[in-house]
Amino acid sequence: IRVLAVASEIYPIIKTGGLADVTGALPAALMAHGVDMRTLLPGYPSVIRALPGADELLRWDEFFGGPVRVLGGARDGFDLLVLDAPHLFDRPGNPYVTPEGHDWPDNGLRFAALSRMAAEIGLGAIPSFVPDIVHAHDWQAGLAPAYLHYADRPRPGTVMTIHNMAYQGKFPYEMLSPFGLPPGSFNIHGVEYYGSISLLKAGLQFADRITTVSPTYAQEIQSDEGGMGFGGLLRERSGALSGILNGIDISVWNPESDPHIAYRFNADELAFRAANKAALQRQFNLDPSPDSLLLGVISRLSWQKGLDLLLENVPTILGEGMQLALLGSGDADLQDRYQAAARAHPGRIAAVIGYDEILAHLVQAGSDALVVPSRFEPCGLTQLCALRYGAVPIVARVGGLEDTVVDIGEADVSGNAATGFKFGPVTSDNLGAALRKANIAFHDHLTWRRLQRSGMTTDVSWRNRAGQYAALYRDIIVSRQV
Ligand code: ADP
Ligand code: GLC
Repeated sequence: IRVLAVASEIYPIIKTGGLADVTGALPAALMAHGVDMRTLLPGYPSVIRALPGADELLRWDEFFGGPVRVLGGARDGFDLLVLDAPHLFDRPGNPYVTPEGHDWPDNGLRFAALSRMAAEIGLGAIPSFVPDIVHAHDWQAGLAPAYLHYADRPRPGTVMTIHNMAYQGKFPYEMLSPFGLPPGSFNIHGVEYYGSISLLKAGLQFADRITTVSPTYAQEIQSDEGGMGFGGLLRERSGALSGILNGIDISVWNPESDPHIAYRFNADELAFRAANKAALQRQFNLDPSPDSLLLGVISRLSWQKGLDLLLENVPTILGEGMQLALLGSGDADLQDRYQAAARAHPGRIAAVIGYDEILAHLVQAGSDALVVPSRFEPCGLTQLCALRYGAVPIVARVGGLEDTVVDIGEADVSGNAATGFKFGPVTSDNLGAALRKANIAFHDHLTWRRLQRSGMTTDVSWRNRAGQYAALYRDIIVSRQV
C-alpha cells in the first residue's frame, strides 16, 4: 500500500510538539506492515537544508502566488516529499509564527497550498508515486481531503488524524476563493464553521475515515465540551471515527543505550537510576537528596497541560519533602511563575525554561515520577517515555493518559499491573491528593519497584499500533472498491 502522509512537522527535522514525533516514527513502523509511506512537508529552510541533492519531481510556475517545486529525497530512513515554495515557506524561525511570535498572516494560504499539493499528488501529479491513501495530520493538512472530495477524477482514500482539537485552523470567509474551494462548500456540511472557514473541519467533514490518537479522546471529542465545537459533527461521523494510540520510538527512548543520560540502566538494574537522579539534581541545582521524591515535568507550558494546578501544589511538594524539576517553555505568565517558585525555594523547586531534547532524556532517567496534570490530552507522549524509563507517571484521568497508565488502585480491574497514579476530575486538590499518595508509595520500596518494573515492561512501541493504521488503510481501500 502506498500512503502519502501530509504534515507540517516531522522529527527530527522540524518539531514543535508530539505531532512531529508521530509523523517521524510512523513510516518506519508501517514498513513492517507492508505500507510504503512518504511524507509531504512544507519546504521550511530546515527541511530544504536536510535534503541536499534532492530530486526535482515537479515544477510549476504558479501555485498559490509563486513558483513551486516538489523535491523528493530520503533522510534518516524515511522518504520525504517537500513542497519547495520560497514565497510561502522560506522564512526564519518557527513553522507557524514570525520571529516576534505572531501567526504569519498568510498561514491559511501556506497550508492550503500544502494540502492542495497533497491532493494533486493524490491524483497522480508525480507518476513515480501515486498513493492509494492520503493521510492528513491536523488542521494544516485538513484541506487535502476536501480538495480530493471535489476532484473530478478518481481519487485515493483519505484519512484525517486529529492530534489536537484545540487548533482548528480558522480563516475568514473571504479566503474561500483564494483557497480554491467551490462556493458550494461554504455551508454547515462543508467547510463553514460559525461564519468562518475551518481547515480542521474540512478534513473532519470530507475524509473517508477520522482517527485520533487515543480511544478515550475519540470518545471525549464526541461531547459538546470535549469536541470544542465539533462534538455534533463527530457524533454524526462516529461510524468513521476511531482512536489509535500513539507509540514512541523505542530506539530513541531506550534507557539501556541512551547517550544523553548519566548512567544507563534497565528494569533489572534499577539501582543505577540513582546516578541519574543525582545528575539531574546537580544539573537543576536541587539539593542532593536521594530520599526525596523527585517530580519531573517536560512540557509545553499552556492551559491544556494544567501546570498552573501543579504550581498551586508547591506547598504540598514542600510540605511532603518532595522536589520538582520542570523543563518547559510556553506561556510567559507560567514561565515567570515557575521561575519565581524556583527562586523562592532553591534546592527544592527548579525550573529550566526552554526547549531541550537532550535534557528531556535526563529528566526521564533521573526523576522518580513524571507529572502530567493535563486538562485534556489527545494522547501524550512524555508519560510513555516515563514508563519506559522507570519514572512513575502521575497523570490526569483524561484522553490518552487514561489509556496508557494503570492506576495503583485499579490493577485488578484492567488485568494489567499498576504502573502509576491517575487523578480526576482535574483539580488542584485532586492533584495534591495524588502527589501525597505517590509519596507514600515512594517510601514503600517494594511497591515503588513494582510500579517501575511494570511500567518498564509495558509495550509503548509503535509495533502493534502501526498495525492498526495499516488495517485502517486496507479497510478504506476495500470499502471503496465495493
Ligand atoms: P504535545 O504534543 O501536546 O506538546 P506530547 O506529550 O504529545 O505533547 O509531546 C511533546 C513532545 O515534546 C515530547 O516528545 C516531549 O518530550 C517534547 N517536549 C515538550 N516540551 C519540551 C521541552 N521543554 N524540552 C524538550 N522536549 C520537550
Ligand atoms: C498533540 C497532543 C498530544 C499528542 C500529540 C501527538 O500535540 O497535544 O496529546 O500526543 O499531538 O499525537
